[in-house]
Amino acid sequence: MKIISSSDEFTQQQLDALIIYKSQDSDLQNAAKSVDDALNGAISEVISTGDFTGKSEETLILYSRGAIPAKRVIVVGLGETDKFSIEVIRRATAVGVKQARSLKAKTIATRPIGVANGAISAEDSAQAVCEGALLALYHYHGQKSTDTPETLESITIVSDDTNAVDAGIALGTAFAEGTILARDLINMPPNIASPAYLAGQAQEMAKEVGLKCTILEKSQMQALKMGALLGVAQGSEFPPKFIILEHNPAKKDDDNTIVLVGKGVTFDTGGYSLKTKDGMVGMKADMSGGAAVIGAMKTIAKANVPLHIIGLIPASDNMVSSKAYRPQDVLIASNGKSIEIISTDAEGRLLLADALVYAQRYNPKAVVDIATLTGSISIALGTVASGLFSNSDDVVAKLNTAAQNTDEPVWRMPVSEKYGKALKSDTADTKNSGGSAGRAGGAGVAAHFLSHFIDYDWAHIDMAGMLRNDGESPYTPINSARGYGARLLAEFARQWAKS
Ligand code: BES
Ligand code: ZN
Ligand code: ZN
Repeated sequence: MKIISSSDEFTQQQLDALIIYKSQDSDLQNAAKSVDDALNGAISEVISTGDFTGKSEETLILYSRGAIPAKRVIVVGLGETDKFSIEVIRRATAVGVKQARSLKAKTIATRPIGVANGAISAEDSAQAVCEGALLALYHYHGQKSTDTPETLESITIVSDDTNAVDAGIALGTAFAEGTILARDLINMPPNIASPAYLAGQAQEMAKEVGLKCTILEKSQMQALKMGALLGVAQGSEFPPKFIILEHNPAKKDDDNTIVLVGKGVTFDTGGYSLKTKDGMVGMKADMSGGAAVIGAMKTIAKANVPLHIIGLIPASDNMVSSKAYRPQDVLIASNGKSIEIISTDAEGRLLLADALVYAQRYNPKAVVDIATLTGSISIALGTVASGLFSNSDDVVAKLNTAAQNTDEPVWRMPVSEKYGKALKSDTADTKNSGGSAGRAGGAGVAAHFLSHFIDYDWAHIDMAGMLRNDGESPYTPINSARGYGARLLAEFARQWAKS
């Protein structure tokens, strides 16, 4: 499937379907109006009967019967004009292309939405069209022995300004591909998606887009004294991998490095603090933060963000075995801090601890970590936003702008010393979990734990509630990971590069 631009007359496109749009509270406009004129008012007639109004995600299909070269016209509702946004463009395009696909259309054309009204630039609109289309058409093939192949062959974005549209297509493709990579990695079953598999996929992607990729092996982690990560990893047959992706190594002396860190627990059984049988299902996705960072790094490379950017993914299973770590073990992290294990299910923060210490060596201007860290954050925020914990208003401001642009919401939560109370240990510098004392505000307690390992401007994103499609987004397939965070982090990097 390819997305291309064209400046040929929209109504003269010789294709299987044209997709046009209508707001709920205004008449047909611009390209939609010219298509209606060419169809002798067929669309207006449907509208005048009240059978189609333009509510968001509403669709109407008409057959052109020779009036125009395209076989069909699909009209998609945009909802209310004053609620128009980039996200409305993604969603409307998603609804349109999915409708076209269900009709088995092979070639379709659309327009950059909102440009003629001055609501948005042609480049930004084409980017959103491209993201909405590619993300909506995403399909996880899995290990099914038979599967339906993609029938759609091309989407043409028609505009006089093909330069702007081509730039938007390049950017939109970069953003969609990062998210799609994250989805693929998360959806993959845990017997395939081991730490070594993640490392291999990161290497392959790095080669494709021109990133530097280094994989630290267990012996190197031992040399670095990453006792927290190694403690989690010791229960698994699959050795841990510490994945390092680097964009623009030549810019490392610019003194403006940002580091992205993602939790890469390839399966979380809970360890000896075993999860329930139902609680364990879904835990193949416990590397979603790592997948978001790998995806974001792909986007960052393809979009040529002019900054030195590092992606760190500590990857490990969390298993039960005679070699596994136990509650009351004491682990020493790479900054020398000792950690009394209370729950082996609070493993993500242990991986992050050593990765956050490792981030320090880049002398970063900002570090953002992302993790499926606590069930507690989804109790607090549901699927509405991930929790954002930070010591920097500047980092938060840029993440908020990024989240607004990508529609991957974050909600700032308090960072407080009070959360540290639950982690006081009699035998070590900190506990890894508060046990029953750490249940209240569990996401804040986890964030407080992480703060022992940072010495820079930092934000922590707890995305445990944002894993799956909650049925609300037309461009996230049901039964697939959303790929949350990949676009957010890449857009954050672009925002950082702008300032
Ligand atoms: N991976 C889980 C968090 C999680 C839960 C992610 C549900 C996605 C969906 C994490 O490692 C975990 O088990 N956290 C514990 C922490 C507790 C032991 C302090 C939790 O949230 O219960
Ligand atoms: Zn856990
Ligand atoms: Zn976990």
